[in-house]
Amino acid sequence: MAMSTTRPNPLPPLQRLLVVGSGGRENSLAWALLRCNGVEEVWVSPGNGGTEEHQGCRCLAIAETDVEGLINACLMRQINLVVVGPEAPLAAGVADDLRDAGLSVFGPGAQGAQLEASKAWSKTLMDEAGVPTARHWTVHTETEALSVLDQVRQPLVVKADGLAAGKGVTVADSIDATAQAIHDAFGGRFGAAGCQLVLEERLEGPEVSVFALCDGERLLLLPPAQDHKRLKDGDKGPNTGGMGAYAPAPLLDAAGLDVVHQQVLKPTLEALKQRGIDYRGVIYAGLMLTPSGPQVIEFNCRFGDPECQTLMPLMGPELAQVLQACALGCLDQAPELFIVDRCSACVVAAASGYPEAPRKGDRLEIQLQPDASIQLFHAGTRRSEEGHQLTSGGRVLAVVAQADDFDQAFTAAYQGLSQVHFDGITYRHDIGHQVRQS
Ligand code: AMP
Ligand code: GLY
Repeated sequence: MAMSTTRPNPLPPLQRLLVVGSGGRENSLAWALLRCNGVEEVWVSPGNGGTEEHQGCRCLAIAETDVEGLINACLMRQINLVVVGPEAPLAAGVADDLRDAGLSVFGPGAQGAQLEASKAWSKTLMDEAGVPTARHWTVHTETEALSVLDQVRQPLVVKADGLAAGKGVTVADSIDATAQAIHDAFGGRFGAAGCQLVLEERLEGPEVSVFALCDGERLLLLPPAQDHKRLKDGDKGPNTGGMGAYAPAPLLDAAGLDVVHQQVLKPTLEALKQRGIDYRGVIYAGLMLTPSGPQVIEFNCRFGDPECQTLMPLMGPELAQVLQACALGCLDQAPELFIVDRCSACVVAAASGYPEAPRKGDRLEIQLQPDASIQLFHAGTRRSEEGHQLTSGGRVLAVVAQADDFDQAFTAAYQGLSQVHFDGITYRHDIGHQVRQS
């Protein structure tokens, strides 16, 4: 693991930060950034019910795509660094506009965000760069799609091209189900995101998420994490944003991570540069570890949620400066990022009805006292005028714990979760089953 540094520190002062977004990812980013060297205040726009539970962390009631509001707030509060959390503002060019206003921003511009915002664009880039990924066809009409299906004569994965809040992918089990998914997508199921589809060969293997911090030239890889996308125990039920995670995922050891660095991330960054894109933010590679090596399932232009909540407690106090150095294009000048050598376990609690129609407005009762090795990160919560915490979204919160092994970390996370109550609380009991003995 990285050692702390003795390098001189040429980076500008970094006392006041703004995190853009309202989810659990942004709650954990704000918490981690507040613990960093020299950081005094972290603002979150718009934040959630848990933002101000972290001392030094404040909500700013500005929508994540309200560029004018964000710029004014940053200038007024002398913000040194903006970290944009979610994909929607990144794809909308919020990072470009903030940079044009002279701010330091961690997060790619709209062009770079196409890595996530257009699956067809991202597939073309992977082909050009020689990045291992499933065989694929980009199609614009139902007839075109059905003729591909006719030729390949096997079930395919059907993906809406654009952002579809994690719901744009159907992994079909049969040729009929593939045809139906194609029909539904062109019938408008995903709105404009489904006007173009990517059809993909179906791959098999465990999935793992790798995050690289990027300054446009250089990459710094974080420990791999494993997400749990299905709603129910045993990987059953519908796909969700993610119901829990753990890190570091032993699926990829140091040698495996290096393969991902060399075969996936480096060539991707090179291809971005060749397109004239100065990518300063996270490259998130969603990988499937197939018998013939890692293959990219998708790229995202941001941290994963809840992988971010899982990883943040492992980050050293250099994190803010490392993100600042990415924003300034000088990662080589940043202090070395210390990464705690512990196991981190994260369990998400969702509202009943999630993901289709989550129930809102239930009151949270929280007895859990966070400490150095257990955290509570809010996501879909809001604080009522009377000061009560209420549910206000699908994934409500996450409890994250660290220990010397995964058994202890998950035992602590589940014990922590047992001290949190709201009507309809829904969570998986088997998060981390891949790495737990008990
Ligand atoms: P995505 O939104 O692209 O991450 O896809 C959602 C989920 O669909 C992934 O986490 C995988 O479990 C699954 N998936 C996507 N592409 C493929 C593929 N080519 N083969 C098998 N499963 C896939
Ligand atoms: N946890 C998966 C994602 O953030 O896309």
